[in-house]
Amino acid sequence: MKKKRRLKKKVLYFLIGFIILVILIFSGIKYIKYINSNPYKLKKLGYSEEQTEIILNLKDKYIEEILKMDFNKNYTKFMKEEYFLFKNLNQYVEYYNKNKKDKISHIISIVNTKANNEWYNEDTVKNTDMSKGDLILVNKFNQLKENYTPEDIVTISNYYSYADNSIVKKVYEAYKNMWYAAKEEDLTLIVTSSYRDYKTQETLWNQYADRNGEKWADSVSARAGFSEHQTGLTLDIVTYNTIMNDFENTDEFKWLQKNAHKYGFILRYPKDKEDITGYAYESWHYRYVGVDVATSIHEKNITFDEYYAYYIEGDL
Ligand code: DAL
Ligand code: ZN
Repeated sequence: MKKKRRLKKKVLYFLIGFIILVILIFSGIKYIKYINSNPYKLKKLGYSEEQTEIILNLKDKYIEEILKMDFNKNYTKFMKEEYFLFKNLNQYVEYYNKNKKDKISHIISIVNTKANNEWYNEDTVKNTDMSKGDLILVNKFNQLKENYTPEDIVTISNYYSYADNSIVKKVYEAYKNMWYAAKEEDLTLIVTSSYRDYKTQETLWNQYADRNGEKWADSVSARAGFSEHQTGLTLDIVTYNTIMNDFENTDEFKWLQKNAHKYGFILRYPKDKEDITGYAYESWHYRYVGVDVATSIHEKNITFDEYYAYYIEGDL
């Protein structure tokens, strides 16, 4: 009897010991897994729980990058934002450190579009990537070659335009569709400027500079090679009896605001976006980008520069 009881006790001790061992092994494995996990590593670097959660929402390759970088309490401020691009993270923080009062979303826009750089600087100016077709970007940092002339340029009939205007054929078709849609509502659109070659743009900019100085000229006119008008994808649209700056007060302008995107056009230099586009508000300057992109830009209420930086050049 005694022997049997002793045996039972031994088995029981063995079982208890075994269970404890299993628990210890499992806890050990769990602990090793935890200290090798990203949340633990981020915590060790100094990130709070909230910051860790934001970082863990990034793509794996960017989490890996963050783990290699020194802790920075400002990183996650940017990661939460809609147009955040990881490749610009350090530039956002650098800009933020110098402009603490600026809104984070604004810093993202400025850095993404490179608008914090000096205009027409040889270090920041690139040749426009012509492979983008209707979506080529021409601004103060993306330049067309002097001899660039778009293919398929056609003359715009005086029925829709003041004299001597021409544009890429596809854009002409889109414009005519828009013109007739506006006409149905008793509104008349008129093209006042369209394709301009390098030399014409040069003369224009020089005239502005002579009149009011280079700084002002740069705010209202592109330098030669940097104008969207050279792409043949851009139209300046007004209506009868309005000069440029009055156009925004017309029904035609209001109609374009609601409808231009349906025909593939965007208002290229909107109000309050001067620091992004580099140009004063132009209620008359419409750029053709195709219906899908125009609709997207319209809905998101962003500039083409922002759209391009994020959706076309971004590291999504
Ligand atoms: N006025 C616009 C910015 C141009 O010159 O292309
Ligand atoms: Zn224009």
